[in-house]
Amino acid sequence: MYTLGEFIIENRDNFPYSTESLLRLFSSIKLAAKSVHKEINKVGLTKNIGSSGKMNIQGENQQKLDFFAHKTFIESFKHRNVVCGIASEESKDIIIINKKKNTLNDQYIVLIDPLDGSSNIDVNVPIGTIFSVFKKNYSCEKKVTINDFLQKGIKQILAGYIIYGSSTILVYSVGNGVHGFTLDPSFGTFYLSHPYISFPKKGNIYSINNGNYEKFSNGIKKFIEFCQKKDKNNLYTSRYIGSLVSDFHRNMIHGGIYIYPKTELSPNGKLRLLYECNPIAFLTEQAGGKASNGYERILDIKPCKLHQRIPFICGPKNMVFKLEKFIKEYE
Ligand code: AHG
Ligand code: MN
Ligand code: MN
Repeated sequence: MYTLGEFIIENRDNFPYSTESLLRLFSSIKLAAKSVHKEINKVGLTKNIGSSGKMNIQGENQQKLDFFAHKTFIESFKHRNVVCGIASEESKDIIIINKKKNTLNDQYIVLIDPLDGSSNIDVNVPIGTIFSVFKKNYSCEKKVTINDFLQKGIKQILAGYIIYGSSTILVYSVGNGVHGFTLDPSFGTFYLSHPYISFPKKGNIYSINNGNYEKFSNGIKKFIEFCQKKDKNNLYTSRYIGSLVSDFHRNMIHGGIYIYPKTELSPNGKLRLLYECNPIAFLTEQAGGKASNGYERILDIKPCKLHQRIPFICGPKNMVFKLEKFIKEYE
């Protein structure tokens, strides 16, 4: 059984940059993930539960665990000498890592949603961490700027998530399929458990927050109606956890479409392009699926600001095409 480290070395040809730098990057991701995993597992017994009493930059109530995960990942990235800048959903501005000595290795930009689905923390429902990695745009002597973070999703060199569920699983892609590694907590080691994950050809799950139904556009309403009444060839089921990572993980394995559309109240949707949509879109495509905002491919969108929100759809190709057709026809 491969460990994550062994798998990276075995598949070194699939990563066009230095294997050592990727191992270092993963060393910080694994360390922080294990620390967050441990904290989550005892959350009812510690003080890391409930709201921190602060609002984050997203205008959302920050949970204590949001902040814990943010701090843990940032600290871990700072100490591996491969990351020169970080953007986090929990931080207003980019974090530039100043090193006394710049090395060729300090070339990666990391974007992170440290704790995804944080409204589920206090009620023992799966939550996650989402990460996205780019190469710094310019030569290594130049300082990192905001432009390094505003690259199109297609430029990601690594994307992934950790799901803290019935087990803790790290899922990633460097552009050669999607692979999942389950944490064996007794050894503290991630072992390959889900090689080459891909969407089943035919899906029957749709995931959307139906509480917003009245505020959906006609295209979305028509698609839901199609799933519930009109498609004679398929029997659909609705599943919605409210943690993107968990909803996506289930849909990628069992076959389903995830939709967070615009609503009357949120014309840009809710999910963040840089921390949530881009990495999940990268994984979606690597798993043979399609990710779109209803009109265009997510990975082709040029971000205009750090905390930008967009409508988000991802899933098996045929389901996403179908929904896009309804959007085109009824909006
Ligand atoms: P976060 O906890 O990082 O702020 O993300 C929450 C997101 C996402 O995980 C989830 O799919 C969505 O918000 C749920 O939103 P609703 O509660 O509006 O359905
Ligand atoms: Mn999130
Ligand atoms: Mn979050």
